[in-house]
Amino acid sequence: MFTKPLNVPLIEMSMCLSNALDLVSSRVVDHHKRVAYIACSIAAEMGMPEDEREVLMLAGLLHDIGAISARDRIETLQFELENPDFHAELGYRFIRTFDLFLDVAQLVRFHHVPWDNGRGGSRLGQPVPDSSHVLHLADRIAVLIDKKREILCQTDRIKKAIRCGSGSKFVPEYVDAFIRLSEKESFWFDTVSPAISDILKAMTGTSSIVLTYDLLHGMIKLFGRIIDFRSRFTATHSSGVAATASALARMAGMKRSDCDVMRIAGYLHDLGKLAVPAEILEKPGRLSVAETNIVKNHPYHTYRIIGTVRGLDTINQWASLHHECIDGRGYPFHHCGDEISLGSRIMAVADVFTALSEDRPYRPGMSRHDALQTMQTMAGRSALDGDLVSLVGRRYGEINAMRVASQTEESGEYEEFGAGLSQA
Ligand SMILES: [Fe+2]
Ligand SMILES: [Fe+2]
Ligand SMILES: [Fe+2]
Repeated sequence: MFTKPLNVPLIEMSMCLSNALDLVSSRVVDHHKRVAYIACSIAAEMGMPEDEREVLMLAGLLHDIGAISARDRIETLQFELENPDFHAELGYRFIRTFDLFLDVAQLVRFHHVPWDNGRGGSRLGQPVPDSSHVLHLADRIAVLIDKKREILCQTDRIKKAIRCGSGSKFVPEYVDAFIRLSEKESFWFDTVSPAISDILKAMTGTSSIVLTYDLLHGMIKLFGRIIDFRSRFTATHSSGVAATASALARMAGMKRSDCDVMRIAGYLHDLGKLAVPAEILEKPGRLSVAETNIVKNHPYHTYRIIGTVRGLDTINQWASLHHECIDGRGYPFHHCGDEISLGSRIMAVADVFTALSEDRPYRPGMSRHDALQTMQTMAGRSALDGDLVSLVGRRYGEINAMRVASQTEESGEYEEFGAGLSQA
């Protein structure tokens, strides 16, 4: 049972989110981390204070969060961008929903604003933070790197392209700082290092912020949104599972702090679905074997990504084992019986209950009778825990009301969030 207080380093949690974004397309793996490294290196070269560099690092790790479909993400990697404002604005809106990230959101919002010989100091009547211009420069340096080729052979070409943009696209002093940095082979080797996560962690110094439960909860809601936003079919699924799982945990006798942890695990359970293309998530007919295999990957990815964060072991177990079955025929680990903890069993039941009961654009949610019957059949073949399914049957009204309330609240927040976005 979970007893330790939560103290999760913000930088690790942000790196975890960045890793999750990498799942969206294998072509862009490590782009966020590379940009964070280059931006912070330029900032350090210019003598920027440590606290500002930390904000810049977080913005680097998340800057393309608005480009959440694979197609959009790949577009951001082209050197000349046609309409970069949309993903920057969307990213800003995602990120600002987490209180601790207001400064980070502001940097992300303007990360494609050209310097335009000084006119880029403001945009839409608002000042553009200096760090946004550093981020812009770092992002453009990163996209000029060809990972398939030896790095030092590329530096002259990259420096030339960046120098060409000095004044028009980039702040000249920042370009100068980059040119000074680029004399060091180590700078370039770091940018393409497979150990870039460790390099970034070593750069963050001692001022790292640690997340307590409330802060972690705020950040995790942001994770849930990123997961759900990709498909209108499951637009509020994570919040429904989070509410159902914590309600069930309370009814099953877990202590309050564990019910709160269960809610966090609920928001995270489908994190690995970022690796599943939207076309598969939304495919109307039967999935092919290959497509089913891609879907089967998702709890595995959830497990590996959450596993990189210190202090989240229990959350990881509760979140990631939601497709394991009591009889060992689940996936991806084929745990069985007592190997599956109460928390993981609750998550499995909460997931199935929410998936059956929630409305989807192509069908309404199942009635009480049909949902319970389906779950009882699953319990009969040991796919779900029978005691927990009986508990759902006894307290259906209460549990379902909590699920509906959570999903309704979340979809209201979405509408607010998307208002005016098409004009952005
Ligand atoms: Fe971008
Ligand atoms: Fe799942
Ligand atoms: Fe799910």
